[in-house]
Amino acid sequence: MTDIDVLLQEHRKFPPPDAFARAANVSDPGIYERAAKDYEAFWAGCARELEWSKPFSRVLEWKPPRATWFRDGELNASVNCVDRHARGARRDKPALVWEGEPGDTLTLTYAQLLDQVCRFASVLDSLGVKKGDRVAIYLPMIPEAAIAMLGCARIGAVHSVVFGGFSAESLRDRIVDAQAKVLITADGGFRRGHVVPLKKNADDAIAETPTIEHVVVVRRTKEPIGGSPASMKAGRDQWWHDLMAKASASRPATAMNAEDILFTLYTSGTTGKPKGIVHTTGGYLTQCAYTTKAIFDLKEDDVYWCTADVGWVTGHTYIVYGPLANGATCLMYEGAPDWPAKDRFWELCEKYGVTIFYTAPTAIRAFMKWGAQHAKKHDLSKLRLLGSVGEPINPEAWMWYREHIGGDRCPIVDTWWQTETGATMISPLPGITKTTPGSATVAFPGIFAELLDNNAKRIDVGGGLLAITKPWPGMLRTIWGDDERYVRTYFSKWPGRPDLYFPGDGAKRDDDGYFWILGRVDDVLNVAGHRIGTMEVESALVDHPSVAEAAVVGKAHELKGQALAAFVTLREGTKPTTELNVELREHVANKIGAIAKPDDIIFSADLPKTRSGKIMRRLLRDIAEGRTLGDTTTLADPAVVAALRDQYEGLES
Ligand code: PRX
Repeated sequence: MTDIDVLLQEHRKFPPPDAFARAANVSDPGIYERAAKDYEAFWAGCARELEWSKPFSRVLEWKPPRATWFRDGELNASVNCVDRHARGARRDKPALVWEGEPGDTLTLTYAQLLDQVCRFASVLDSLGVKKGDRVAIYLPMIPEAAIAMLGCARIGAVHSVVFGGFSAESLRDRIVDAQAKVLITADGGFRRGHVVPLKKNADDAIAETPTIEHVVVVRRTKEPIGGSPASMKAGRDQWWHDLMAKASASRPATAMNAEDILFTLYTSGTTGKPKGIVHTTGGYLTQCAYTTKAIFDLKEDDVYWCTADVGWVTGHTYIVYGPLANGATCLMYEGAPDWPAKDRFWELCEKYGVTIFYTAPTAIRAFMKWGAQHAKKHDLSKLRLLGSVGEPINPEAWMWYREHIGGDRCPIVDTWWQTETGATMISPLPGITKTTPGSATVAFPGIFAELLDNNAKRIDVGGGLLAITKPWPGMLRTIWGDDERYVRTYFSKWPGRPDLYFPGDGAKRDDDGYFWILGRVDDVLNVAGHRIGTMEVESALVDHPSVAEAAVVGKAHELKGQALAAFVTLREGTKPTTELNVELREHVANKIGAIAKPDDIIFSADLPKTRSGKIMRRLLRDIAEGRTLGDTTTLADPAVVAALRDQYEGLES
C-alpha cells in the first residue's frame, strides 16, 4: 500500500471538545462562508483590529501576480506589538518569559519590552540606520532577538534574521544579497551545553561583506571571543549593553505605509542561491495577528510557547509578531529539547504553566523515540491546545502527541504554510473543525486553496498540485533583488494563469475536502522541518577541491522526515577514503550549516545520466531508499546504477 492510500484510510475524527468549542475565539462555522463571499471585507475587518496611525480606505489591489493590501493605510508593527499593550491594562503583563539553556531566566513585561524596543530603535538611529536600510540579525534564542526585530520595525529598517545555526558563509551570502548596513550578533549562544561561536562566524562573514558599517554584540556567553576578548574591532564593533545604557527610552515609532517592507527572510529554492522573501507591513501583520488569535485561540491568561527559532519564519510570525500583536505572554527558550535531559520541554511547560504549545513533527518523532516517561514526570494539565508545523505529521506521531502531551483532551492544529505565505493558510480552527490525524484539514477563512492538475484543472478528490487561487494579505511581495524570479517561481506554473500561486507542494484531497500535504514536488527537501535546496548542497560539495560532480537527493528518515544522501564523483587521482567522507560532510557544514550535512556520502566513478547528460535523480532516490530500480533504459550507461546500488547496500549493512 502506498503512503497515499494509508493517508486516505485515516478516518479517525476528533471533534472539538464541547467546552473548548463554547469558549473558543472563533466558534461560528459561518465564518467560512462569510469570508468566502467577500474575502476583502473579511480581511479588512481583521486589519481593523490593528492600530493604524492612518486608516486605510483601499483594501486589495490585484494585478496578477502583484497584490497590495491596505495601500493607503499607515501603521507601525512595534506599536501594534508593544506600545498599545504597554499603554493599557497589559502594561505589567509578562510579554516575553525567557529561559536560557543553562537555566538563567528573564521576564519582560510589556512596559519593559517597550523600554527596550525604544532604546534599541534609538541605538539604530545613532548608528545612522534609516528607514528602508537593512539590518542583519544573527542571534541565539534570546530576548534581544525579538527586541532587535521590533526595534528595526519601529524605525522602518528592514530586518533580515539569519538562523544562528547557519555558517559564516551562509551569513555572508545573506548580508551581501541584502546589502545590510548593520549586523546584530552575540558573543555566542548555548546549544547542548556547547557555545556556538556566533561572533567568530560573524567576523569571518564580515571580512567579505563591504556593506557592514557597525556590529552590535550581545554579551551572552561571556566566553572569550575567538580565543581572546580583544576581537571586538575598534570603530566597528560595540557591545549591546553599552549602547542600550546610553540610548533614549522614548523613541516614537515611524509611521509605515502598509506596503513598506517589514522584513526579508532567506529561504531555499531549487537553484543554489537562497531567496530573500520580502514581506510588507500591513497585510503581513493582519494575517499574522488574526491567524494567531483564531488558530491558537489565544486568551488573556494563556501562556503560549512556540518552540521554533526566530531564524525561521515560524519564529517571526508565531513567536514575535503574531502573539505580541495579540498581547500574549510568550515563552522563549534558548536551547535544545534534550539538554540537560530529555524532559526539558516538559519541565518548562510545567514550570511556566504553558497552555498552548506549538512545535514541529520532527521534534514530536524524537519525543516518541525517547519515550512517554519523560513527559509523564511533569504536570502538563495546563495545556489546552497543541500545534504542529513545518512538515507533514505522520498519523501515529499525531496520535502520540494527542495522548501523551495533550492528555487526550487538547485539540491539535496542524498548520500548513510557508516562508512565502507569511502566516498560516491551511489549518483547523480548534473550536470548529473536526481534526483527523495527518491532515492540515481546510483552508483558513479568506484563503483559497485548491488541488490542480498540470493544466490547472481542479481536482476535487485525489492527488494533485497545491495552488492558492486568490491573493492573501501576508503573501510575499517579491524576492529581494530578483523580481523576475518571483514571477517565475511562484506564478508561472500554469501558463496563462499569473493569478495562481504555486507553493511547490503536492497534496491529496479526501472525500471531506480535507487536504493532506504530501511534501515538495521540486528539488527542495524538508530536513527536520528545515527547507534545504539540493542544489545548495551540491554546490557546496563541488566547491571542495576533491569533488568533480555531486548529486544530492532526499531519503526518508525516521526522525528528520527526510535526510540527505549525496552521490559524489571525485576528481582524477583522488582516492575515496573514510577521512574524505568525513571531510566532505564537514565542508558542507562549514559552507551552509550543520543542518545541511548529508547523512550518507556515496563515492561513485560515475553518476547515472540520461544520454543528454541529465542526472537521473529519481534513480538515485530509489537507490538511497533501497527501492527496486525503475526504468534504466534511458541511461547512457546502465552499469553505473547497478554498481552504485551494490555500493549503497554495502554501506547500509
Ligand atoms: O512543504 C511544506 C512544508 O514546509 C514548506 C515550507 O517551509 P518553510 O518556508 O521553511 O516554512 C516552514 C514553516 C511554515 C512547505 O512548502 N510544511 C510546512 N508546514 C506543513 C508542511 N507540510 C505539511 N504539513 C504542514 N503543516
